[in-house]
Amino acid sequence: MYDFDEVLDRTQLSTSKWESEIFRTGNKNLLCFGTADMDFKSSPAIIDALQSVVDKGHFGYPYKRDSYYDAIIGYLDRHFSWKISKEMIANSVSIYPSFQGIIEGLTEEGDEIIFNSPVHHIFKEVVTANKRVAVESPLKLVDGEYQLDFNHIKASITPKTSMYILCNPHNPMGRIWNQDDLIQLVDLCAENNIIILSDEVYAGLIYPGESFTPLASLSEKAAMNSITCISASKSFNVTGIKHSLVISENPEFISVYKEQLKKNNEYYGESIFGHHATEAAFSNSDEWSNELMEYINGNFNFLKEYLKTNLPDVGIFQPQSTYFAWLDFNYLGLSDNDLVNLFEKEAEIIVTHGYVLGEGGSGFIRWNLGCPRSVLKMGLERLKTAIENKK
Ligand SMILES: Cc1ncc(COP(=O)(O)O)c(C=O)c1O
Repeated sequence: MYDFDEVLDRTQLSTSKWESEIFRTGNKNLLCFGTADMDFKSSPAIIDALQSVVDKGHFGYPYKRDSYYDAIIGYLDRHFSWKISKEMIANSVSIYPSFQGIIEGLTEEGDEIIFNSPVHHIFKEVVTANKRVAVESPLKLVDGEYQLDFNHIKASITPKTSMYILCNPHNPMGRIWNQDDLIQLVDLCAENNIIILSDEVYAGLIYPGESFTPLASLSEKAAMNSITCISASKSFNVTGIKHSLVISENPEFISVYKEQLKKNNEYYGESIFGHHATEAAFSNSDEWSNELMEYINGNFNFLKEYLKTNLPDVGIFQPQSTYFAWLDFNYLGLSDNDLVNLFEKEAEIIVTHGYVLGEGGSGFIRWNLGCPRSVLKMGLERLKTAIENKK
């Protein structure tokens, strides 16, 4: 019913993913599969909601109505059986600005914060910019599947460890951490007085047949020892709208976070577009979301078949979530710099290179599948030609 095959005019697409890369490289012929948003229109419900704000023509400070909270609470219950109340919800302009308030409020300068690499490079940047010590615990690859390495995580804990940032579903390989792992992590963190910041921004992008469990919904212990960051941004393609949620069932965590917002007055007069897009996403976009994930799944299967037939040595990992494919090009034996050149200069395509995402990322790339299949096919054909020309 929704047309994900439509190739939108490039000038209508996100400027960070397309325009800035074309400007940076001076190459108008590029195909861009990097930045984490999608080359699709948002759901019609979101477009209508934003249109009605525009039609009113008044863009003053908004008020969060009950319908806004009902949409969030209803979505989390409907999809994940996570039951929360209005008092547990705070806001930010997006996930990483909320990391700042959480880290500043709940940890001390010089504290150590653990997260699993490879992961979105901003984790490290935010932690270190906030004068905390970033401790990377690499994921382990077992029989072609990425897993949390509990031995490494345990060995990384010191008396200075006060926070663990979980990325679930995990960017870049689209893993959903299973309930047993989450329970083990909650126990380990609780025993060591480590607060879990659970970044669940990709929670709405679940492959058909898979399911997602928010960490805080697991148990009372998980709920009281965690703070969750989530938003409509990635799942409903509204990353430019700038509105996100910070949720904790621990009243102290939420009140500490809200106090932090006083530092920059961020709690006052939020984005009117953010409120309306969030409400429409969470209350009225389920059907769009289901079709989107069928399409992304189709893109992944297309990519897998294409690689199997044409570039069988590329390593590929089955995602359970997100719109990313995580691919291993180490068989080429190229340095990271040469791999960047192969993609950017020879194939004229932009992807996210794994070495930027921390330990374990070298020689890998993250390919964003949030695009029409015809564009994906063009990109793969360019890659095949560039690799063949190297032989
Ligand atoms: C794991 C993760 N968290 C948070 C963000 C930031 O999301 P947003 O800008 O929508 O708040 C990203 C963006 O790529 C991400 O990959």
